[in-house]
Amino acid sequence: MKKIYITTAIPYVNGAPHIGHAMDYCLADVCARYHKLIGDEVRYQAGTDEHGNKIFQKAKELGVPVEQYTAENADKFKEFIAKLNVSYTDFVRTTDENHERRCQEIWERLKDHIYKSKYEGWYCTGCERFITDKEYEENGGVCPDHQKPYERLKEENYYFKISDFKNEIREAIETDEMLILPDFRKKEILKLLEDSPDVSISRDKSQLTWGVPVPGDDSQVMYVWIDALANYITVLGFPDADISDWWPAEAQFVGKDILRFHAIIWPAMLMGLGLPLPRNLVSHGMVLSNGQKMSKSIGNVVDPVEVLDKHGVDAFRYFFLRHIDTFADSDFTWEKFENSYNNELANDLGNLVQRLATLANKNDISFDESFKPELSEEYKSYMNNFEYSKAFDFVWEKIQDINRRIDEEKPWALAKSGDVEKLNNCMNDLIGSLLCANEMLKPFLPNASEKISEVFKNPIKPGEPLFPKTV
Ligand code: MSP
Repeated sequence: MKKIYITTAIPYVNGAPHIGHAMDYCLADVCARYHKLIGDEVRYQAGTDEHGNKIFQKAKELGVPVEQYTAENADKFKEFIAKLNVSYTDFVRTTDENHERRCQEIWERLKDHIYKSKYEGWYCTGCERFITDKEYEENGGVCPDHQKPYERLKEENYYFKISDFKNEIREAIETDEMLILPDFRKKEILKLLEDSPDVSISRDKSQLTWGVPVPGDDSQVMYVWIDALANYITVLGFPDADISDWWPAEAQFVGKDILRFHAIIWPAMLMGLGLPLPRNLVSHGMVLSNGQKMSKSIGNVVDPVEVLDKHGVDAFRYFFLRHIDTFADSDFTWEKFENSYNNELANDLGNLVQRLATLANKNDISFDESFKPELSEEYKSYMNNFEYSKAFDFVWEKIQDINRRIDEEKPWALAKSGDVEKLNNCMNDLIGSLLCANEMLKPFLPNASEKISEVFKNPIKPGEPLFPKTV
């Protein structure tokens, strides 16, 4: 039994959960459930990123104390995660006292690689990111993601010497010691790494008060990304505890927009602390709405709770894990969602379960209970390579294949002919294939797969339809 640690990006709490946030949680949950299925012990981290001006300003705008605002939103994220049928073992809020203290200790341990210098340049509060002059020029001075002009900063900051680690980071990426997925992102990161300057890792207190104080310097607060990245190890107890049972993480799930922080600053921090790098950095694409990035100003934001409430959590997970490609940007539309529910979940899977169970029930077929469903090698290879939407496609082909076999083998005709042995063998084969597909569905559709296992326990009874049709 291996010990597996899986992490998710911690969202900013400047609003309620967004449909994109579901991607990290669902993908990491598939990974967690798959590892449990193959017998591993799993720890799953989640949390909330609560510092920085973006959040501070939002709370101020609403006239709510920032502590109350962040606490309320952190609760909304916890509820959202539960609604997705995801269970975490560890939850970190970056305002937790333990997290803050551990961050300060981490800072002390990195001191040999930190120096003070003047920063003059651009910043985007929406991204909480320092912007290079080149990017400023390219974007005409306005952040394309947040539609706000970049701010000019002129302050004395602490810098982290990325230059001390560049060669080692490049080597770790090139040799896949820290595997970046998908492969084309790995190439982008290697290019970005070449031009990466040392990074500013603090802000002047006159500009930012809502953050972890820099130890030994009252005038400075940590840059929000330093405090945020540290969460992955502070939640395990670092540096108070020995974390070697769980660290390095097996997989860290992040969106493509924040891969650069995880692939450059984060490994530099880990190297500075003498810790190994995560084994896999898995970066997923963006969920689009009608082909466009979701944004409040365009008015195309989809409320994830509305989608969840429509047909339940398995329908949600089905769409986001199969029709949203694991690595590429993909589109959510209500039409696609409804079609996938009615034509695929209800027709392909729901009907199959009903059809087989009704036939078994009518003809008093019992299923051989010594049968052990197995995971196919092809499925395991997709799952081990984090190609989850492909693995899901593979399982779906198996489901469609069982439907075809029923049409071809016509068990109802065998029943009519009175050949009990042939009917029994045919039905046991079909049910066995369905239970193998069901085993592979477990990481994706945990509720439905549990119900399917129940249906095919002797005596077999169809029960309620799994996915009642709506059209
Ligand atoms: N707070 C930082 C992460 C710190 S991790 C040490 C952050 N927060 S975020 O709220 O902006 O994003 C959290 C996660 O949600 C990221 O992985 C991000 O890529 C993901 N998504 C946010 N919108 C998304 C989509 N529309 N589609 C898919 N995922 C997106 O960045």
